[in-house]
Formats: sequence, C-alpha cells, structure tokens
Amino acid sequence: MALLNILHFPDPRLRTRAAEVTEFDEELKILISDMLETMYEAPGIGLAATQVNVHKRLLVIDISEEKNAPRVLINPRILSAQGEEEMDEGCLSVPGYYEPVRRAQKVRVRAQDENGNFFEIRADELEAVCIQHEMDHLEGKLFVDYISSLKRDRIRKKLERQKKQDQ
Ligand code: NI
Repeated sequence: MALLNILHFPDPRLRTRAAEVTEFDEELKILISDMLETMYEAPGIGLAATQVNVHKRLLVIDISEEKNAPRVLINPRILSAQGEEEMDEGCLSVPGYYEPVRRAQKVRVRAQDENGNFFEIRADELEAVCIQHEMDHLEGKLFVDYISSLKRDRIRKKLERQKKQDQ
C-alpha cells in the first residue's frame, strides 16, 4: 500500500477527462487500495482517480462516521437524479476552502466493482452529493467551477501562493 500524491487546483492535470476502465486486473486493485488509504489519511470522504493523476473512471467514497464503509465505483453513470440540494462542499484538491454547491438530492447510479461486475446504488443527501462531486472530477470539473469567478480566482491565487511557499 502506498500514499498517493493529491493534485491541487489549479493544476491543469485536474482538467483531464478520465478514460473508461477496461482492465479489471491486479494493478487496478492496487490502485483502489492506495486510493482508499490516501483518502482515509487525508482525511476525506471521497477521492477520484483524476486527483491522484490517474485518468481512469474510478472513484472511492466513504461517508460513514467510523470510516469502515468504503464504496468503489468504476465507470459510474447516473441513471436518474431527483430533487435539489445545496451543501457546503470541500475538496482534497482545493484544501481549506468550502463553498455551497447546488446538486441533485437523490441519484441512482450504475457502476462496476473491482472485478468488473455491474451494480446499482441509490444515494441521497451527503452520499449523493459526494458521488456527483467525485464524478465531476472524472470530467475534469471541480466544485469551484460552480462558484463565482471572483471567488474562484481568489482561491486560485491563495493556493498558488501557498504552493510557492511550500517549494
Ligand atoms: Ni474533490
């Protein structure tokens, strides 16, 4: 197991559209276990492969208090969405910033597990928001894309300054 490096906004690699997963091999299982370890260590409730610079349609989430209910979604697709909800969102790629984002309140999602088997889940509230947020990453989209460009620019400048200081 290994901790993976998380890309930070405005890294252009976060804008990559991820490719469909076609090989459900040992390498994929190692990536999944590394992503889970990285998410728990951060700590976060979701992580998309895009964020660790792997451009495959794969995400992991765990919204449980005990951090013992990981879900792995490969090639996820939203089958239906219902309602609307606004929640404050944060992102491991935009550390330290939280902004309200409006998303569907309930989603039905079809995805594959680590062996390639298809399954369907119904998610609502935080889990639904989390899945939609992580699926956005696979399209190269970030939650800051939903806020005003003024706020987004302010966050970008602060994170760029921070990065320079860390170097
Ligand atoms: Ni995120």
